[in-house]
Amino acid sequence: MRKPLVAGNWKMNGSRTMIAGLLDGLTAGLTEGCDKTEIAVFPPSIYLSQVKDALDGSSVAWGVQNVCTQEGEAGAYTGETAVAMAADFGCAYVLVGHSERRALYAESDAVVAAKFALIAGQNLVPVLCVGETLEERERGETMSVVSRQLGAVLDGVDAALLNDFVIAYEPVWAIGTGKTATPQQAQDVHAEIRGLLEKRCPDMAARTRILYGGSVKASNAVDILGQLDVDGALVGGASLKAEEFLAICRAAG
Ligand code: G3P
Repeated sequence: MRKPLVAGNWKMNGSRTMIAGLLDGLTAGLTEGCDKTEIAVFPPSIYLSQVKDALDGSSVAWGVQNVCTQEGEAGAYTGETAVAMAADFGCAYVLVGHSERRALYAESDAVVAAKFALIAGQNLVPVLCVGETLEERERGETMSVVSRQLGAVLDGVDAALLNDFVIAYEPVWAIGTGKTATPQQAQDVHAEIRGLLEKRCPDMAARTRILYGGSVKASNAVDILGQLDVDGALVGGASLKAEEFLAICRAAG
């Protein structure tokens, strides 16, 4: 059975003081009902050392929100972070294909597939974000968009690298809007994603966790995370408050 995963995507939020308080609250609350849930956090990369120092030895994993498409630790890529550097800092996961990077930084399906391969090649776990815009949903294109995004990775990445990954379905219209997909909407898309995996890489279908992301809060987590093919959550705003994030982690367990 898939162990639920709840991950906090802090995006471009935080300060050393705020993060110290958030991590203190998170680690203090882990013993209360979170043991059935795997937990991870994605800080802004600049705070990775602080997060690693605070979480080392705890049950909470960490990762980075983005990596460079170029390989290797060194190179003339000002401002970028190499996958090897994320591995060097003990990252377990790397986000890839987040809708904000697709939209704001023109990350194509091909770039997402290339990053996915680099991440898996360093034995880190890619968290592949997929999801449709409101206009695409209203045109009935949700599954064609999601299957195109997932297919770009399944087609573009060597099969040997498709042995451990997470998918996060994040309808763009639910991100940061307070407008969450209904539990049935989430389950419908997750079930279709699971079906795609069953067709394309059957040995991965049963064990690949499919997270839901998009305005997950403590108040809606139980209903969404209780769906058969929802294996956890990728949480934005609510992950910046320790108690709210822990409540979502408990709901997933
Ligand atoms: O990656 C998770 C994020 O996109 C969801 O954000 O604030 O709607 O939970 P939020």
